Amino acid sequence: MDRATVSARPAPAGAGFFAPGESPRRHLIGLEGQSREFILELLDAAALYRERLSGPRWQSDALRGLAAGNAFFEDSTRTRISFELAEQRMGAMHVTFGNTGTSVSKGETLLDTMRTVVSMRVDIVIVRHRSAGVPAFLAQHLDASIVNAGDGAHEHPTQGLLDLMTLRDAWNGRFEGRRIAIVGDIAHSRVARSAIFGLNAVGASVMVCGPHTLMPEDVESLGCTLVPRIEDALEDADAAMGLRIQRERMEDGLLPSLGEYTRTWGLTVERVRLMKEEAVVIHPGPMNRGVEIMPDVADGGRSVIFYQTANGLAVRCAVLAWCATGDARAAA
Ligand code: CP
Repeated sequence: MDRATVSARPAPAGAGFFAPGESPRRHLIGLEGQSREFILELLDAAALYRERLSGPRWQSDALRGLAAGNAFFEDSTRTRISFELAEQRMGAMHVTFGNTGTSVSKGETLLDTMRTVVSMRVDIVIVRHRSAGVPAFLAQHLDASIVNAGDGAHEHPTQGLLDLMTLRDAWNGRFEGRRIAIVGDIAHSRVARSAIFGLNAVGASVMVCGPHTLMPEDVESLGCTLVPRIEDALEDADAAMGLRIQRERMEDGLLPSLGEYTRTWGLTVERVRLMKEEAVVIHPGPMNRGVEIMPDVADGGRSVIFYQTANGLAVRCAVLAWCATGDARAAA
């Protein structure tokens, strides 16, 4: 090959979908500080995608030419698969990668790996990482849109949006005056943080309860009320959210035993009955059945847990469309 045809410079980032140098770099790092209008815009768009997805064979080519990189450095079922499906449904191409199967395992830095991927004209990076702050860091250093798919104990904004979407349906379209009890490991939960920020923005109120050792010192500064007993938090609530208890919390000395946790904080049929008659139970998954939630609650009449998962696909369509075009409804 003629040396003159070989350029040492990387390909312009984002050139697959955007003109060179024109990547708008719209990021979704968290729900903290987001406006009510922005959140409702995404939820309304997601409702349109849900309608499209409820019919047969829906596929759009609105994101044709867009390349998405799903960078999952932590395991995921719901988030990873729904992003992949959303990308395909909207005509984007995608690659999925993580710790294994990439040169991260040979000691390449995260940033070098991500620069490598973006230099191959990846326009949007969906990133999950066990360290809080990784998506914000990448947003500063990559010429691509970044979507946070869960970073440490910081945020999981698309989970927050799908929780809000599910609750808005259960609450007949209105957040104002509604109250949810979030139960469990608040300290390590990015899901709880995104839900609290999102629910605050749209006007619902949040109670939190759980073991003292799994509660942040200044939890109420997030925008919620700490209630010491689960029964009091659930009494007359409009919804309950169970959170996954991570077994390693026992090894960390933060929990005496799972049995003790279940007795004091588990979502049982008796406890869930304390809520309003039409109140619902949500859980981000994966669930520890028989630990933080009893199987007869997870599969019971109040549970909308698998409906949440379905809403996740619609929410991720809206977020990808917004990142790519600035219009969350662009592919609807
Ligand atoms: N709720 C959630 O983030 O689930 P996954 O870890 O399966 O993506």
